[in-house]
Amino acid sequence: MELFDVYATYDIAPVSAKGYYLFDGEGKKYLDLYGGHAVISIGHAHPSYVKELKAQLDQLGFYSNSVISPLQQQLADTLETESGCTDYRLFLCNSGAEANENALKLASFYTGRSRIIAFKNGFHGRTSATVAATDNSAIQAPINKQHAVSILALNDLAALESTLEQGDVAAIILEMIQGVGGLDQPEPEFLASLYELAHQFGALVIADEVQSGFGRTGKYFAFQHYPHQPDIITMAKGMGNGFPVAGLLIHSKIEAKKGMLGTTFGGNPLACTAVLSVMEVLSTENLLENATKMEAYFLEKASALSLQVKGKGLMLGIDFGFPVKELRANLIYTHRIFTGSSKDPNVLRILPPLNIDEHALDQLFDALKKELS
Ligand SMILES: Cc1ncc(COP(=O)(O)O)c(C=O)c1O
Repeated sequence: MELFDVYATYDIAPVSAKGYYLFDGEGKKYLDLYGGHAVISIGHAHPSYVKELKAQLDQLGFYSNSVISPLQQQLADTLETESGCTDYRLFLCNSGAEANENALKLASFYTGRSRIIAFKNGFHGRTSATVAATDNSAIQAPINKQHAVSILALNDLAALESTLEQGDVAAIILEMIQGVGGLDQPEPEFLASLYELAHQFGALVIADEVQSGFGRTGKYFAFQHYPHQPDIITMAKGMGNGFPVAGLLIHSKIEAKKGMLGTTFGGNPLACTAVLSVMEVLSTENLLENATKMEAYFLEKASALSLQVKGKGLMLGIDFGFPVKELRANLIYTHRIFTGSSKDPNVLRILPPLNIDEHALDQLFDALKKELS
């Protein structure tokens, strides 16, 4: 049986990984500056993560949400401390799209409205409402077009205000740094007005931190770079370091009937153990500080080659001003360095494990120097 076609793939098949390296079946070693799409936060096969997951599997691999889960409560308490969101509740699910789909559903239920405001070049997933809120009609089916969505230009305050004035907006969903879109960010003044206008017109603000969360930008969540707290924060990717897990922090003013949200697998003991282990390593190994430190080193190296960099922490993009498809392939096949692409054909994305060091970044810049000369 053939596999269903999803993305274009590179001709490498990793069979093992350690830290920020991938190894194929022939023992070839690749520097992983992509992290499986921003998923590997604490590094591949981190010893304490592996040990804790194995122990949890031995003890209690799974039970459903029909029983009490002390691990979920421990996770909620740790997240409260790290996010600074003290008046919120936690809902756990399984993927970034599922987290956003639930956030949009909740916003619609709470406000009694159905319009979503999203932004140009935003990406929120491939499920019903999330793909409708994603600025890419090529991945939408007719069923997705039934959602009421206004896709606005980022930083266009006039368009935002006039859309909110219609009075039918349930939620504004946005990434604090656009991942798939190519690392653009809302301007701080625009963001401040967005929160103000949303609350004035009765809409909720959903921060999609699926890619930018869990330390990737040097703070636990990217919204923490700014003064306001979103009404709902969604998270996934780096949260589980490869274990499929996602979540929503939901402001306690947002009520919903029991059963409005639900999940079989969400918040299972293995998922909670994975996230608690990730959080422990982020803290004990100072990986948020490392993301900021490595960003500074990256900017220094990039500036020596006169390269334009966008993003924050270790969620970075180099804008080469020309399409990077060939360069990215050369990095993989010639230099054995895995990087990411984006919707912007000129932007190469760098999303490494957060324990990356100067030596690994030197490898990238040595390769870029050769490729650009
Ligand atoms: C910002 C953002 N939101 C949502 C998603 C969807 O996440 P998932 O692939 O886990 O459904 C992604 C995936 O790339 C993302 O980058």
